[in-house]
Amino acid sequence: MAVMDVVKYGNPILRKKCAEVTDFDSLPELVNNMFDTMYEEEGVGLAANQVGLNLKLMIIDVSHMDEAEETHVFVNGKITDSWGESIIEEGCLSIPEVRLEVKRPEFIKFKYKTMGGEKKEEEFSGLLARAIQHENDHLNGIFIIDRVSPIVRMQVKKQLKEITKESGINRKNKDRKISFVL
Ligand code: CO
Repeated sequence: MAVMDVVKYGNPILRKKCAEVTDFDSLPELVNNMFDTMYEEEGVGLAANQVGLNLKLMIIDVSHMDEAEETHVFVNGKITDSWGESIIEEGCLSIPEVRLEVKRPEFIKFKYKTMGGEKKEEEFSGLLARAIQHENDHLNGIFIIDRVSPIVRMQVKKQLKEITKESGINRKNKDRKISFVL
């Protein structure tokens, strides 16, 4: 088991557009470590740049909220279509303790590669579609705070400043209540 440090808001890698994965051979070990990290941090999704890696790679496990679900690994993903609308409260492992109601399309069509390099394009809905969009945003340098109104953003400005200040220091939240943190 290898738990990596989760990079926090303020670290420039989280504002980068991540690079395509070309070396698929190194993925299994990396993905294993990402899952260890995500479970340790009690998140339901994790993007590679959240552990400091400039790679278009994300993992998701929403099975504790949706029993029909399983674990997912998406490589070099791209949302090709979206429709509908829903508002769900989201948290983010890179922005501890901040929860924001985020409006996003309810359904997406997502093109990606599997860990084995197989090309896929599928439609997703519900929590999984939500998680994919959150992580896909990370891989494009976008945070949940970019998806809310300026007024709401103002309300968390102080917290963001503090996180930026502490960025790089691995801190633990004892009483993080999990709803939907990715
Ligand atoms: Co996040």
